[in-house]
Amino acid sequence: MGFWPVLYIVHMTDRKKKMARLSEKYSLGILDQDNSLSQYNGFLKNMGEPLTIEDFVSERFLEPVPVRVLEIGCGKARALFELKEKFGKKVETIGIDLVVPKKNHSDVFLEGDAWRIPFPRECNVIFSFRALHEVGFSKDMVQKITEALGIGGVGLLSFRIAESIGGKKSFLGEMTEADEVFLVDLPLVVNGCSIVKTIFFDKADPKIVSGIFLKIEK
Ligand SMILES: C[S@@+](CC[C@H](N)C(=O)[O-])C[C@H]1O[C@@H](n2cnc3c(N)ncnc32)[C@H](O)[C@@H]1O
Repeated sequence: MGFWPVLYIVHMTDRKKKMARLSEKYSLGILDQDNSLSQYNGFLKNMGEPLTIEDFVSERFLEPVPVRVLEIGCGKARALFELKEKFGKKVETIGIDLVVPKKNHSDVFLEGDAWRIPFPRECNVIFSFRALHEVGFSKDMVQKITEALGIGGVGLLSFRIAESIGGKKSFLGEMTEADEVFLVDLPLVVNGCSIVKTIFFDKADPKIVSGIFLKIEK
């Protein structure tokens, strides 16, 4: 066996171990993975987006076909449940997470590492909050999301990047310098999708990019 395949196996084993540790922490309830539509809409508002998730979904009603909504890192999938409660058969909700929720709150739940598992196609709305920094590989994730969107679809993605700890820049989760550079430099059009990005800076140290919100339209 050559050098590169060995490196690849080591890398994948390391990734699997990291994700297993993270999954355990969430399963034990050490980290918060609960959410609601109103929380997400609050995040959107803080990031300068006037529309709510419900607005993005209802703008895309395509009867008789349900609007396909995908959440990456859905946690307990409460927001997806609330969408289903509100819109019934008009939506198809798909959640992806490392951890299987105790109650499945989505029509479809895909268990696994969002970086590795294939995404459903022809999604009309894709969103992710408080999760993409734990997935990392932002370049691959943006590529997968642009491919998973159907024409007219929208992606609402919040990437946390870094914070100031003890006066030093500290990357969050799996984020690296490469993720930051990729996201900050992202052009206005990627893979046939238009990109609007909003960059946020750390309150304690405004030189640090704390997060980026991407609105991707196909
Ligand atoms: C802080 S929680 C946020 C959950 C939910 N989005 C919310 O805001 O309440 C992060 C979620 O991302 C999931 N997660 C972390 N890394 C992941 C990965 N590589 N693939 C899929 N899900 C992942 C975790 O299991 C967890 O449910």
